[in-house]
Amino acid sequence: MIEFSDIDEIVFLIKKQYGYDFEGYSRASLLRRINRFMELSGLVTIVHLKNELVNNPENFNTFINEIVVNVSEFFRDPDFFKSLINNVFPYLESYPKINIWSAGCSFGEETYSLAILLKEMNLLCKSRLYATDISTNALDKSKKGIYSNKDFKEYSKNYFSCGGKESLNQYFVSDGQKSIINAELKKDILFSRHNLVTDGVFKECQLILCRNVLIYFNDELQNKVLKLFYDSLPVHGFLALGNKETLRFSTIQDKFRIIDGKEKIYQKIK
Ligand SMILES: C[S@@+](CC[C@H](N)C(=O)[O-])C[C@H]1O[C@@H](n2cnc3c(N)ncnc32)[C@H](O)[C@@H]1O
Repeated sequence: MIEFSDIDEIVFLIKKQYGYDFEGYSRASLLRRINRFMELSGLVTIVHLKNELVNNPENFNTFINEIVVNVSEFFRDPDFFKSLINNVFPYLESYPKINIWSAGCSFGEETYSLAILLKEMNLLCKSRLYATDISTNALDKSKKGIYSNKDFKEYSKNYFSCGGKESLNQYFVSDGQKSIINAELKKDILFSRHNLVTDGVFKECQLILCRNVLIYFNDELQNKVLKLFYDSLPVHGFLALGNKETLRFSTIQDKFRIIDGKEKIYQKIK
């Protein structure tokens, strides 16, 4: 197992070898997750770990899947979705075709939440949702769209708080233990792998959602990713970061106007 003091060396190695920057990640979380990966892979010391990272690039995917934080939930922070419905959807309505990028989609909860609300506002039929993540494991789960029933009471409460009109259950098929998202909601979503740190513009989109992802990046990297979002938006396009992240200290803040200062929803103006 590695120690706290070994983390910088591993972070440096990953960045040098693969271009992935985990500098801004919480050290405690990184330590826990790297050690879990080592345990699962039968790696005992830091030398074994470094050897694995350098000499077995084919296992790097597994490593990434283990160390990223995939926590998510349906209708997480309902005020955020409420604001999207009130402040962004009316603009989107005017477009004949709407492209939306959900960056760092984790297991798909955020993207499916959005798809449900778009459907209820009669916008899903002209929308295409692109959901991306660095983790192949997260993307596989997203595509399957299978979720445990244990948190559905909370999800349902959040769904109504953010303006949901129907019953959340109608969007799933349940066997009592788990619920599977309806195929109808899946058909307008394209899940694919994209690394915000190293990959380029994904697609021009009228709305980009990226919540609870930048918090893991240092300032320099946040700026780089925000610039990527800027380049992926047309003028009048929206960037929705959620209440934990901000454009405030970035180099591109003057290119946006604030739509919702609390939920950090911005519109590109130049
Ligand atoms: C905490 S989850 C957030 C999920 C969702 N956006 C939400 O707010 O509920 C963070 C996600 O960002 C992804 N992620 C981390 N680094 C990334 C990167 N460099 N490129 C793309 N996705 C990344 C992780 O794999 C994880 O699924």
